[in-house]
Amino acid sequence: MLKIGVLASGRGSNLQSIIDSIESGELEAKVELVISDKEGAKALERANNQGIASKYINPKIYDSKEKFEQAMIDALEEYEVDLIVMAGFMRILTPYFVRHYKNRVMNIHPSLLPSFPGLHAQKQALDYGVKVAGCTVHFADEGMDTGPIIIQAAVPVQEGDTEETLAKRILKEEHRIYPQAVKLYAQDRLEVKDGKVIVKAVKS
Ligand code: GAR
Repeated sequence: MLKIGVLASGRGSNLQSIIDSIESGELEAKVELVISDKEGAKALERANNQGIASKYINPKIYDSKEKFEQAMIDALEEYEVDLIVMAGFMRILTPYFVRHYKNRVMNIHPSLLPSFPGLHAQKQALDYGVKVAGCTVHFADEGMDTGPIIIQAAVPVQEGDTEETLAKRILKEEHRIYPQAVKLYAQDRLEVKDGKVIVKAVKS
C-alpha cells in the first residue's frame, strides 16, 4: 500500500480531503506522517485526531535550508514513505530535496498554473480579471509552484467575487482533485516524459 508523508504549514483541509478519501475506501493509501514547519498548525492537530504521527520541524534551528530539509528527509525515511504530498506547505523546496524525491513530491496550488504562482493566487486572478480560475496538482520541482502538471480543475469567476468567495469555490475543487491525483499515483498510472505527465490507462 502507498505510504504518504504530508508537508503542511496551516489549516490542512487538503490533508483532510486525502484522509477522508482513504477512510471512505476511495483511495488505497496510508498517511504515515504529517510534518509541519509551523508550531501548532491545524494540520498537526488533524493528524493527531486521526492517530497519524505528526512532527513539527522548526526551520529556524537549522543554519541552512538543506539541513532543515535533511531533518524532514530523516523523518520521512523513518516512516518509509513513497510519496510526499505538499498540502499548503508554504516553502520552496531546494534542489537538494527535489532531487532526493524526484517525481515523488506533489503540490497543490489554487490557480491554473502556470498562471499566478506564489502567494494570494486567487487575488492575483481577480486583480488580472480572468473569467476562469481554478487549481492545479503537479509534481514539484525546484521552482515556485512549477513542475509537471497532473490534474487541473477550472472554476468560473463570478461577478462580485472577493478573494474569499473565489478561494472557497476553488478549495472545493482542490479537495476533489488532490485525492484523485494521489489515487493515480497509487495506481502507478503517472509517467513523466519530457516534463509532461502522461496518465496511463487502467491496467486490465
Ligand atoms: C490551499 O488553497 C493550497 O492550494 C494553497 O494553500 C492552501 C492550503 O490550504 N497552496 C499554495 O498556495 C501553494 N503555493 P489547506 O492548508 O487547508 O490545505
